[in-house]
Amino acid sequence: MYSSIFGGIVLDPMMMMIPIDDHMVHRGHGVFDTAIIFNGFLYELDAHLERFQRSASLAKISPPFSGSAFRSILIQLTEKSKCKNGTLRYWLSAGSGNFSLSPSDCPTPALYAIVIKHDMSQWKEGVKVITSSIPMKTPLFATMKNVNYLPNVLAQMEAEEKGAFASIWVDDEGYIAEGPNMNVAFVNQDTELVIPKFDKILAGCTENRLLELAPKLVEQGRLKAVKTAHISVEEAKAAAEMMFVGSSLPVAPIIMWDDKPIGNGKVGKLTLALSDLLWNDMAAGPETHRIRVTYE
Ligand SMILES: Cc1ncc(COP(=O)(O)O)c(C=O)c1O
Repeated sequence: MYSSIFGGIVLDPMMMMIPIDDHMVHRGHGVFDTAIIFNGFLYELDAHLERFQRSASLAKISPPFSGSAFRSILIQLTEKSKCKNGTLRYWLSAGSGNFSLSPSDCPTPALYAIVIKHDMSQWKEGVKVITSSIPMKTPLFATMKNVNYLPNVLAQMEAEEKGAFASIWVDDEGYIAEGPNMNVAFVNQDTELVIPKFDKILAGCTENRLLELAPKLVEQGRLKAVKTAHISVEEAKAAAEMMFVGSSLPVAPIIMWDDKPIGNGKVGKLTLALSDLLWNDMAAGPETHRIRVTYE
């Protein structure tokens, strides 16, 4: 773990603590982001750091030091953790000082980061989803990756209670939004990849990368087009294929929604082709998207 409070990296779990008067803890005044560590490379770290900075500015928190210094700390932390497969997660808090609402008496915002070891394998199985009955966040809070994930937690718990993998939010205009910690994507009956617009949801780094990679399938004649759109529930439920997209997956095929099959109810071929594109990019893509970590 790294903490700007003690100004360094600790490897002893007993030391991995944050103060209870930190406003991220008792007021939710903090933002966070992640990046996957895959085979010793940090995948899409810069895209995630850009989103982290956007979230920080929406939450009105100024990082205690420059983005490039923090980037270098994150790479050093990954190196020191010796972790080759896992997740790097980092937070910016308004800082500690008291138990008020206003951060005006918090002298310095705080940065924290942690490495969580886990293996990742490519999803091949189809999953079931439900429509969430938990209200989704308003656009300001959904587009900013802040630490208030209670709606996301309740949406996930609701899905698990109903035997589903996760839930899908529909926005106030009846358009498809996102899952509790993943985006969604569809292949419609015209063989187009359609991704919900990011105006009211979190702009997924993985979906943004997929938007760059998927035109390859258009060149091969497997997809007709790649686009973003507002997608109604009716259009979505009539899709040929549906999937979750997110950095920890990177793609999970969805075969059943509210107990009705999507398409023919089987894992879609194009879903798997899109999954391969991302998986290969993580494993062997250009080094502009993968930072090599040099372990001792
Ligand atoms: C609410 C929400 N939507 C979408 C995503 C997917 O984003 P990414 O592809 O950057 O992991 C996440 C994951 O961080 C999330 O928490």
